[in-house]
Amino acid sequence: MAQAPWRVQILTLFPEMFPGPLATSIVGTALERGLWSLDAIDMREFGIGRHRSVDDTPAGGGAGMVMRADVVAAAIDAARAVAPDLPAVYLSPRGRPLSQRQVKAWSAGPGLLLLAGRFEGVDERVIAARGLEEVSIGDYVLSGGELAAMVTIDACVRLLDGALGQPESLLEESFENGLLEYPQYTRPRQWEGREIPDVLLSGDHARIAAWRRAQAEALTRERRPDLRPARKSSS
Ligand code: ADE
Repeated sequence: MAQAPWRVQILTLFPEMFPGPLATSIVGTALERGLWSLDAIDMREFGIGRHRSVDDTPAGGGAGMVMRADVVAAAIDAARAVAPDLPAVYLSPRGRPLSQRQVKAWSAGPGLLLLAGRFEGVDERVIAARGLEEVSIGDYVLSGGELAAMVTIDACVRLLDGALGQPESLLEESFENGLLEYPQYTRPRQWEGREIPDVLLSGDHARIAAWRRAQAEALTRERRPDLRPARKSSS
């Protein structure tokens, strides 16, 4: 029997945003082939009253609106009734930064339940009561969690078995070994007066590997001194 697909449930007020760009390229092909599945759940369906209200003014005053704990909890509970074992993640600029290490761990699991917030955020009580892990995709503020959810999904799905044509390419990409990836070149050999570095045309695989490692280290020191390179022998 075929393996169960890696499952994504996304709780959103804008279900029409999905799959959106996730229907394209590697991730889209993986969706078509059933490597992963996507349920976009409209939180408005769990809204209160005739107007299906999902938000209210912040306790203590202040600008904007806050998503109601009861509405968000009802949406989470409905999702969990279908798939109880998915790690639950709330996308928010206050979260722990998303990392390749975290993405790898999630892609090795059953899938994700993602909560995309809007407005000024969600009532703090539902985060604690439903054990949501708060995750940020970077130090900037998006107008909602949907794009952050898409980023998270894309990063996970490309790591699923069978998603990439050449899985070897995963071994050398940025953040493996704690390094940014070395520079790449292809034909033509000369372009606008710029040459491909000689070493790459030498056929000497050991020299090429050493050059690439040195380039990756220099680039990482310059751009991302916060990354910790793993030692060469650890693979
Ligand atoms: N929602 C709004 N901004 C965000 C960010 N930077 N990361 C994750 N979710 C968000």
